[in-house]
Amino acid sequence: MKVIKKIDEVRRVISGIKSQGKSVGFVPTMGYLHEGHLSLVRESIRIADVTVVSIFVNPAQFGPREDFDEYPRDLDRDSEVLKKQGVDYLFVPEADEIYPQGYKTYVEVHDLQDKLCGRSRPGHFRGVCTVVLKLFNIIDPDISFFGQKDYQQAVILKRMAKELNLEVKIDVMPIIREGDGLALSSRNKYLTQEERKAALVLSRSLEEAKSMVGKGQTNSATIIKEMKEMIGRESLAKIDYVEIVDAENLDPVARVEKEALAAVAVFIGKVRLIDNIILSTEE
Ligand code: PAJ
Repeated sequence: MKVIKKIDEVRRVISGIKSQGKSVGFVPTMGYLHEGHLSLVRESIRIADVTVVSIFVNPAQFGPREDFDEYPRDLDRDSEVLKKQGVDYLFVPEADEIYPQGYKTYVEVHDLQDKLCGRSRPGHFRGVCTVVLKLFNIIDPDISFFGQKDYQQAVILKRMAKELNLEVKIDVMPIIREGDGLALSSRNKYLTQEERKAALVLSRSLEEAKSMVGKGQTNSATIIKEMKEMIGRESLAKIDYVEIVDAENLDPVARVEKEALAAVAVFIGKVRLIDNIILSTEE
């Protein structure tokens, strides 16, 4: 695996690969890799001829009071893990390589960016879209891989790709969880032992929603009330949002008809965690 820091160099390498007619798979990450990230990496290796992974903790997607400085980083371990998986190239730009002084260009997907996480993290998806479009332009992948864990992010990026006529294909992969249901996240590292236990309310509340739908309950308000009560019983948890929305436009739905997304964001102590599940009346 070759580690590349500079945009010029990665462009040169990729254009060489493309001129041989090979396909490029791309997995953008912020590092501190876990099995969730690696599921995307393995899928890329399976599908594409050459796999590029990026690690870049993107300052543009963190709010002023968010955890940019504390965000966990371990490049040595990440490189080892990616090398073992069989990744071909690891792109790790410095912040000023991506955002030189005086940087002024940003990409926004209106409306979608203001829902769910966008309400409590203004500017977050603008930062995500900007960096991902830049990375797409630099890497020029045929296909790129994202996780359903960040469902809204995936929906927004697909919309950006469509509306900006990007040729890259975006594949969304299932959420990888711990044995007890907690969705893997780099931020789980912040949790104390007690908080780690409390964090199970996210996946449990989503499972409860799914089971209610399974038993014929399709009224969103009723399901949400039950979920909120369940989360409310956990003293370390503070709800940011609990919503049931249309899986495509992310607007709240009054009833689960065919398919809807249940999405939660909950503070466990100071750590904000998100999770989601697809609810279906057709199972
Ligand atoms: P990061 O949080 O590092 O996640 C990188 C990718 O891994 C995302 O597509 C995310 O959805 C996926 N992922 C995270 N946890 C997962 C899990 N438990 N199961 C499956 N996939 C999971 O998302 C970002 O970085 C950034 O916003 C980025 C797209 C890199 C732009 O900066």
